[in-house]
Amino acid sequence: MRRIALILAVLIMLALIVGFYPTYVEKPVKDGSGPMAIRLAPELPAPQTHSPLDWWQTHHMDVVNQGHLTQDDCLYCHDPQTSCNNCHNYVGAKPITE
Ligand code: HEC
Ligand code: HEC
Repeated sequence: MRRIALILAVLIMLALIVGFYPTYVEKPVKDGSGPMAIRLAPELPAPQTHSPLDWWQTHHMDVVNQGHLTQDDCLYCHDPQTSCNNCHNYVGAKPITE
């Protein structure tokens, strides 16, 4: 009897671990949901520098740090809270301040 109870308890624990295993991890995704979502006014055009976008996502820091563009150029379209720092907080880059 005790052994059956024990086996049942183990099975229930396993079911709970599998059932509640955290598979959903929030990421900073453009037009995603939640506080990390990256949002820009939909009427804004993406500048030439942003194409291809995956290159820009990984190289915008070089362009800004090398002084080809300044941060002020970016903030003309970007609100740092909703389209810079939600990603910077996630990746651990230093926050953009106005
Ligand atoms: C003319 C408006 C405008 C300017 C200026 C601008 N951006 Fe953007 N940016 C956009 C738009 C619009 C998007 C979304 C593009 C898309 O979804 O295809 C975007 C997307 C991005 C993304 C990618 C976000 C993501 O996760 O997909 C990064 C990073 C970014 N911009 C950084 C910068 C930086 C750094 C500067 C300044 C050097 C800058 N932007 C200047 C309009 C602008
Ligand atoms: C989709 C994610 C994402 C978005 C959105 C984003 N960045 Fe970045 N940014 C990064 C990553 C990743 C790094 C590199 C961090 C590192 O190398 O340690 C970075 C680094 C930088 C750096 C260099 C910081 C340093 O310490 O050298 C600057 C400047 C910068 N980003 C500007 C901006 C600006 C301005 C915006 C908003 C217009 C923006 N970024 C939006 C991901 C993003």
